[in-house]
Amino acid sequence: MSLLDVENLWVKFPTRTGVFDAVRGISFSLGQERLGIVGESGSGKSMTGRAILKLIRPPGQIIADRIAIEGEDIIAMNERQMRKVRGERISMVMQDPKFSLNPVMTVGNQIMEAYRIHTRSSKTEAKRKALEMLEAVSIRDQERVFRAYPHEMSGGMGQRIMIAMMLIPDPRILIADEPTSALDVSVQTQVLSIIDRLVKERGMGLIFISHDLNLVSSFCDRVLIMYSGRIVETCRADKLHEAQHPYTRGLLNSLPRLDAPNRRLEVLQRDPAWRDAPSVSGRI
Ligand SMILES: Nc1ncnc2c1ncn2[C@@H]1O[C@H](COP(=O)(O)OP(=O)(O)OP(=O)(O)O)[C@@H](O)[C@H]1O
Ligand SMILES: [Mg+2]
Repeated sequence: MSLLDVENLWVKFPTRTGVFDAVRGISFSLGQERLGIVGESGSGKSMTGRAILKLIRPPGQIIADRIAIEGEDIIAMNERQMRKVRGERISMVMQDPKFSLNPVMTVGNQIMEAYRIHTRSSKTEAKRKALEMLEAVSIRDQERVFRAYPHEMSGGMGQRIMIAMMLIPDPRILIADEPTSALDVSVQTQVLSIIDRLVKERGMGLIFISHDLNLVSSFCDRVLIMYSGRIVETCRADKLHEAQHPYTRGLLNSLPRLDAPNRRLEVLQRDPAWRDAPSVSGRI
């Protein structure tokens, strides 16, 4: 059974000039795999991730035929039920941990609190679990980090702490929205390998949102390419360079290449017809 099924998902924002459709009728499924979502800024990647957790603030609206987690439709669930789903079955790591961690609470207390929301455990048990989670994200001096405040942590460390918090409830699905784009390349690699190991060990499904085609192509199994709120193409990550859709080709051609450093970068051309053309499915 697939972990997640999304059918005909729309995200709409009423504006003064009419309704703006940030996501326009997308459908996809997620198994025990690493699924990348790529596309330029504003293409609807984050809104897709947030809609799956029903985290679109009003007046934004989510409309879908079906959003099912392990077969159970969450469309009709109320906020109380959704909090349980978010806590236990699906977690999201946002781009910048500085906005997600509480600045006036120690790292340890935040992780313990996250744990105790889900389980009625003793303080001692919660602390043991918090230290174990810090270890799981390859933090060595767990006791020191446990007592530290978020501002004392580097970006890479902050992101590991976020991942640790997200993993406490042992979710089946992890949505990572540009989890490493604020980090420098070496730290990025470390954080990705932690995510990769955890996804494998726990048999999770991962949705990895990024605007970095090279990163997605090497890190994921399968990729959805979004343009203007739609999925224009789906392909195997290792076949991304053979992608068919002119938009994907344009994205690929506008990437700087190490093997041809002097080539002028192409400017991404867009065709209004892509907004409504059916999506292309590569070999999957
Ligand atoms: N509250 C809102 N009201 C109106 N439009 C919004 C609102 N929030 C987001 N949008 C629009 O929805 C579209 C999709 O936004 P989204 O954040 O999903 O893009 P994205 O693909 O994640 O881009 P980025 O790569 O910059 O993160 C954008 O055009 C954005 O301007
Ligand atoms: Mg985004």
